[in-house]
Amino acid sequence: MTPPDIVTLNKEFGLERRLRFSEGESGMIKVGLIFAAAKLELFLQGAHITRYQPAAGIEVLWMSDSALYQPGKALRGGIPLCWPWFGAHAENTAQPQHGYARTSLFRVSSTIADHQSTSITLTLDAAQAPWPDWKNRAALEFEIRLSDVLWMEMRSHNLSASTLTLSNALHSYFAISQRQQATIPAVTRLTYLDKLQNYLPQQQTCEITFDSEVDRIYQTPPASIDLLDQGRDIDTSIESWGNNNLVIWNPGEQKARQMNDFDDRGFEQMICIEPANALAQSITLLPGEYHRLGQQIKATRH
Ligand code: BG6
Repeated sequence: MTPPDIVTLNKEFGLERRLRFSEGESGMIKVGLIFAAAKLELFLQGAHITRYQPAAGIEVLWMSDSALYQPGKALRGGIPLCWPWFGAHAENTAQPQHGYARTSLFRVSSTIADHQSTSITLTLDAAQAPWPDWKNRAALEFEIRLSDVLWMEMRSHNLSASTLTLSNALHSYFAISQRQQATIPAVTRLTYLDKLQNYLPQQQTCEITFDSEVDRIYQTPPASIDLLDQGRDIDTSIESWGNNNLVIWNPGEQKARQMNDFDDRGFEQMICIEPANALAQSITLLPGEYHRLGQQIKATRH
């Protein structure tokens, strides 16, 4: 898809000071949304949210200072969308990790600014799939609403004549003060598949800590998750829907160093908390069927 131009986008979809399109890093188009004191920034590539500030001085998401802003390359940090598969492709490892949505250019389908929120809906058409086995099979719509909370929903639509299995995730990178200060009480007592032990099933018997690398797929998580951080005066809560799993990831020191787009010490200041449908808990859609995966993030100063 040829990138649309900023003047046309602002004419068609811009909303005074509430929603503007502008040129971001490497000429990539970004969108700025405002609602009262809250600010949000996203890129059309990947419909990728890179910044969320519910109020001055509160930075909810972590973005790598070494992120590579290049067309066709996923941005490191913020909220990449993993779709139509999460992790490695089940049959073909030549296909990119976490699917093609995060590296594809989305089309803007609507924008609204009213007294309730400022919102944008973006679409990845089925014809845009870069892989023949996905061509014209599934479309993705992503709606974002900014109010005193950040609400988002991925809607997957099976456009093919046969049953479709897909996996997905809202791969959210949260900013924290220090990894040893953070925990997520809601996962205590859940079972998880440990990617670091070849997906060995494990039980979380005590509160999760982040002293070293963590890469886990939690099973049947509760709908409400709190991220506690003793080093920050901010309470963060996440409500999610449509997810069978919650992925929690921190690369630890060694893996962070191996990634050229990850700040060497960045692993100390982020945790990924990802509402997801993965592996055996992927979703199956009948022809014409939709699936909704969403989350609402609320961050306030205490
Ligand atoms: C997480 C996975 O969701 O994403 C990890 O559980 C993976 O295994 C991480 O390393 C980052 O993936 P990527 O493709 O963005 O480097």
